[in-house]
Amino acid sequence: MAKDQTGFSSFRFCCWFLVFFFALSSIPLLYWPCFFGYGYSYIQMTTSNKNGSTNLLRFSKAWNHLDFSSQPPQRLLKIALFVKKWPDENKAGGLERHALTLHLALAKRGHELHIFTASSSNSSFPLYPHFHISRPTAAGYLDQAVVWKQFQAENATKRPFDVIHTESVGLRHTRSKNLKNLAVSWHGIAYETIHSDIIQELLRNTTDDPVKSPALSERMKKVIEEVKFFPNYAHHVATSDHAGDVLKRIYMIPEERVHVILNGVNEEIFKPDVSKGSAFRSNLGIPESKSLIVGLAGRLVKDKGHPLMFEALQQIFNENSTFRDNVIVLVAGNGPWGTRYKGLGSNNVMVLGPLEQDQLAGFYNAIDVFINPTLRAQGLDHTLLEAILTGKPLLATKLASITGSIIVSQEIGYTYAPTVRELKKALYKILEDGRESLQKKGRFARKRGLKLFTATKMAAAYERLFLCISSDEKQAHNYCMYQPQ
Ligand SMILES: *[C@@H]1O[C@H](CO)[C@@H](O)[C@H](O)[C@H]1NC(C)=O
Ligand SMILES: *[C@@H]1O[C@H](CO)[C@@H](O)[C@H](O)[C@H]1NC(C)=O
Ligand SMILES: *[C@@H]1O[C@H](CO)[C@@H](O)[C@H](O)[C@H]1NC(C)=O
Ligand SMILES: *[C@@H]1O[C@H](CO)[C@@H](O)[C@H](O)[C@H]1NC(C)=O
Ligand SMILES: *[C@@H]1O[C@H](CO)[C@@H](O)[C@H](O)[C@H]1NC(C)=O
Repeated sequence: MAKDQTGFSSFRFCCWFLVFFFALSSIPLLYWPCFFGYGYSYIQMTTSNKNGSTNLLRFSKAWNHLDFSSQPPQRLLKIALFVKKWPDENKAGGLERHALTLHLALAKRGHELHIFTASSSNSSFPLYPHFHISRPTAAGYLDQAVVWKQFQAENATKRPFDVIHTESVGLRHTRSKNLKNLAVSWHGIAYETIHSDIIQELLRNTTDDPVKSPALSERMKKVIEEVKFFPNYAHHVATSDHAGDVLKRIYMIPEERVHVILNGVNEEIFKPDVSKGSAFRSNLGIPESKSLIVGLAGRLVKDKGHPLMFEALQQIFNENSTFRDNVIVLVAGNGPWGTRYKGLGSNNVMVLGPLEQDQLAGFYNAIDVFINPTLRAQGLDHTLLEAILTGKPLLATKLASITGSIIVSQEIGYTYAPTVRELKKALYKILEDGRESLQKKGRFARKRGLKLFTATKMAAAYERLFLCISSDEKQAHNYCMYQPQ
């Protein structure tokens, strides 16, 4: 108890200190920690020195909180990217979407980009950025010997590479070992996955002895393996605050080599547009009288939590007529659970199938709240960020990446422990809170999202990191120091 009180007063002190500090210096460090009890938002003020500049490599929060110039930098880089697969515009999973959004933005800012990726056919690659295509291995990975040869050949031309970026293990640790000017982005690490394993094991609801589960002991081995080989990458980018913490604490990577840069999504596409939203609703024939439109989007598979969602909705529609009369659930995306949702209650649930990006923007505008029941604890889900930029509040599973970086307070949305009972409780709460309260949360979410989760902010943060770790150490140093504007 006594300890709690001390904690609280030093917390209050922190708030006053920050407000004071903020007023004096107009340093744009966010003062979120004053308002939110959870999340990874604590600022380590020690990173600033006397003249007010901050060593970025030691900055412990997400770089998204900082302000970077929108002007392209004076120094343009030659960048190598290793990514297992280059996506077709819209049909991409998280990692590939990230690579596409980020590197097209960097190319647009004038950097010279070389993308080393695998494809079984080489028909549809654009001329720029430069693509170096190879055949994937049988397991679907990059053929390391081939891509390394391609890389060496390009590096031996007039201009060697300034910096190397690999999406996950695109470039294997055996090759990355001695490269100082390299950063790897992680979109899911084994330690995070343990949480998903626990949830799945509990949801199976069997009397089998969990100790005998081979999958669980395999996971522990995988974690140990990662802890051993991760240090072979010079710099690590965590895409959530939680992953950053795990990399430093559990994986024991030195702090100045772990950097948090949260994902961003295209703010030109995902933005509030009332008329787009009503057009989307009327196209579907949704009556104005419905007081709550709820949206689900993404792959409709088990590990995205759809069995749980299905069960919760089924029970609620059966037991509560208010819910039945007022709520419409829109389900976008494809996967086996699409067909099951269809059979759930024809008047309340509409299954839309996969949507193109522009339709997806309409979808987010049409709904009152976005639900992501995912049980995958890895990475940072893009759909949540798209909904936020559209100005919609969220309901999502209590996973550390989500509560630590996205739904950091009730002002942004709702979180629940992944059981049917808790999910139902959250759904009832949404109905009780109603549209007006949800709109207020949505506006708050967008305000925060515009600062943190735009593709522009993500690209600017990566650009700064790349400039800072690039091979020209003399020039790089300046870019590692951050002067608040
Ligand atoms: C601020 O101080 C650091 C060393 O503490 C120095 O490297 C940096 O150049 C200084 N920046 C300015 C703008 O004076
Ligand atoms: C791509 O096309 C070139 C010829 O245009 C061919 O030599 C190469 O093998 C093809 N690569 C793949 C991965 O199919
Ligand atoms: C790329 O070329 C530069 C300049 O020749 C060289 O210093 C560097 O070691 C090369 N990088 C790799 C990974 O071979
Ligand atoms: C778990 O299984 C038991 C017995 O098989 C059953 O009574 C209970 O309702 C199940 N719980 C859930 C959440 O499915
Ligand atoms: C349905 O749930 C809502 C929200 O909890 C509640 O206000 C309402 O009374 C319930 N209606 C029925 C018919 O049970």
